[in-house]
Amino acid sequence: MELPNLFFIRGDAGLIENYFDEDEIDRIFLNFSDPWTRQNKPKRRLTYRAFLEKYKVMMKKGSSICFKTDNDDLFDFSLEEFKECGFELTEVTRDLHNSEYEKDNIRTEFEQKFADQGITIKRVVALY
Ligand SMILES: C[S@@+](CC[C@H](N)C(=O)[O-])C[C@H]1O[C@@H](n2cnc3c(N)ncnc32)[C@H](O)[C@@H]1O
Repeated sequence: MELPNLFFIRGDAGLIENYFDEDEIDRIFLNFSDPWTRQNKPKRRLTYRAFLEKYKVMMKKGSSICFKTDNDDLFDFSLEEFKECGFELTEVTRDLHNSEYEKDNIRTEFEQKFADQGITIKRVVALY
């Protein structure tokens, strides 16, 4: 396939500003990123406010972050962080696979693994 705008970066999301210009991004997908629960280090979560503030610089007005997780604690935390950083929460569901949004959903590798274990998938689209 000829996909001229596809790039793979093996790097730390904390350095995202090295890869994108301001007002460049239409949509960010955060799929099943590490919940950092056992380590109790919420500042490392990719939905922690310091990350969200970095994303905002690169996001166009009207763009969005589509966030999916299997982890209830990370989901609740993320909803609060999105709100705190001025995002509008839309399409919120705690059981994506049994919701109206499932028809357009593309399951990731980890998503399928969690679903096979009977874990419900949480999802939100946060508008900037
Ligand atoms: C459980 S895997 C999910 C993989 C895939 N997105 C999926 O849904 O099947 C979590 C992924 O989050 C990535 N991740 C977590 N924190 C990161 C960070 N600070 N920078 C870059 N990647 C990160 C990990 O490298 C890992 O690939």
